[in-house]
Amino acid sequence: MVVTIDGPAGAGKSTVARELARRLGYRYLDTGAMYRAVAWRALREGVDLRDGEALAKLAERLSMTVEPDPDAPGLRVDGEDPGEALRGPEVADAASAVATVSGVRRVLVARQRALGDGGRLVAEGRDVGTVVFPESPAKFFLTAEPGVRAARRIREGKLRAETTRAMAARDRRDERRSDSPLKPAPDALVVDTSRMKPGEVVDLLASRVRERGGGGGA
Ligand code: DC
Repeated sequence: MVVTIDGPAGAGKSTVARELARRLGYRYLDTGAMYRAVAWRALREGVDLRDGEALAKLAERLSMTVEPDPDAPGLRVDGEDPGEALRGPEVADAASAVATVSGVRRVLVARQRALGDGGRLVAEGRDVGTVVFPESPAKFFLTAEPGVRAARRIREGKLRAETTRAMAARDRRDERRSDSPLKPAPDALVVDTSRMKPGEVVDLLASRVRERGGGGGA
């Protein structure tokens, strides 16, 4: 099966998704990294972030190789490892603009679905439960209070320059875009992680996945 985890920045998706994949012996897919990769190359090549057609063409042209190991996840773009460059605030902001373009989403969603073939995958993002893998029997939506989310990003070093205000603006853009806005799937379990330890969240999700028949050979 494919397990889906959606939610805003700082809700704990990455930590929880990777640990859950480890526990279940599943692969791990960070779909946000694919949007960041398109944004990173758009910035480098000087592609206008308001030019949806050019961005969709760029997404189509880029080859992406995903390393789905939850212990060492990675993404190569045209054979190149962007490393920490994907994590900067400029790329984060550009990614949220790129993610509003339907032509980009179409290309990336098709690649994400191909990676889901064969199952045994934990996928995290903003629309993996609603759009990419709507058939998933185990969908989760992680949330946390804005103050808690900002504090986590700071601790992880991700909010070095991305201010709380920039993070809130990005979330708003993700929630309000017309194509695949951030929202829980109707059948997702919504978990507020504000006062939970990552291990507790993973326990909860893992037990739900096992209830749904995952974890063994699924
Ligand atoms: O999860 P992240 O911060 O790496 O995501 C970067 C941007 O990509 C974020 O603004 C939302 C967007 N995104 C998306 O629209 N759909 C996804 N499945 C994953 C990320």
